[in-house]
Amino acid sequence: MILIKALVLAGGKGTRLRPITHTSAKQLVPIANKPILFYGLESIRDAGIVDTGIIVGDTYREIEDAVGDGESFGLRVTYIRQEAPLGLAHAVLTARDYIGSEPFVMYLGDNLIMGGITDFVSEFRKNRPNAQILLARVENPSDFGVAELSGGSVVRLEEKPEKPGSDLALVGVYMFDGKVFSAAESISPSWRNELEITDAIQWLIDSGADVRAHEVTGWWKDTGKLEDILEANRMLLGSVERGIHGTVDGASRVDGNVVVEEGASIEDSVLRGPLVIGRDSRIEKSYIGPFTSIYHDVTVHNSEIEHSIVLENSTIADLGQRMERSLVGKDVEIRKCATMPKAYRFMVGDASRIEVP
Ligand code: G1P
Repeated sequence: MILIKALVLAGGKGTRLRPITHTSAKQLVPIANKPILFYGLESIRDAGIVDTGIIVGDTYREIEDAVGDGESFGLRVTYIRQEAPLGLAHAVLTARDYIGSEPFVMYLGDNLIMGGITDFVSEFRKNRPNAQILLARVENPSDFGVAELSGGSVVRLEEKPEKPGSDLALVGVYMFDGKVFSAAESISPSWRNELEITDAIQWLIDSGADVRAHEVTGWWKDTGKLEDILEANRMLLGSVERGIHGTVDGASRVDGNVVVEEGASIEDSVLRGPLVIGRDSRIEKSYIGPFTSIYHDVTVHNSEIEHSIVLENSTIADLGQRMERSLVGKDVEIRKCATMPKAYRFMVGDASRIEVP
């Protein structure tokens, strides 16, 4: 069987997720209490791949601290530094020495693919094309790279077109053989000053290479924006199984699929799943509703939270209104001053301090 390596992209600036990404890597935002990037690493391992290069940028320390040498995932991880986020095709060129002559799967670290990538990788192993792309039908193709097919073959690709020729978006998982290096060397930067992988694949098509497409059957999300992160959280919580590993006092009620991680304590509260409460978090006199992920070491006191993600070490206390559809960063403190209005909607950065009226 041919050896296939993986190249995971975990650089980039995450501008669409500011302020969270002012201080943290977008790939490490937890979804259902697990960093987005970990889901990708697990699906690479599940596809039978071991050697994984991770492209890192300014947030390299955080990524390296979280993933380490990859052993806990069953992977052998090598970090490759990209000096500036100059595009996906630039990242491919940066990894040239690491990849060598092996075919590889390139995985964008902020993409979540529910069904994994095992079928996608097997199809490549079987057919051995020069490149293989993964496509999904979307409602907003202009936000993605878009593919046009004719009789099953890929004829045209365009990055974020104003007038998309189809609703088939490029999912952030690709497979290539060594030909991609010539393609990446031959293209010019796009309007956003990046060497686009979309243009490199178009170059392959134009030079007669065998480029095949595979359509995603399950659910897929590029988690670059708040709405997408909340949707991904909703999807993943939809399949959690109940597990109470912390303490729940007699005055509390726990309904549905709820995970209470070790060391967490629930006092005089109502938890209505699906939701997860992270380790060593404290929920007191509160209601935590469906589709909420509370990460570790969080305190929620006398408040109601639904359909939200709260990162580590934050405190939410005495909110007079229910908080919903919010992403709260690390070390954030939100406290009530007075009452009104009906709902809170936050996208709050790390170490913020907020007092609500
Ligand atoms: C990148 C690719 C785009 C692809 C998307 C998938 O976009 O350039 O073709 O559809 O990932 O997540 P970016 O996230 O860099 O805007």
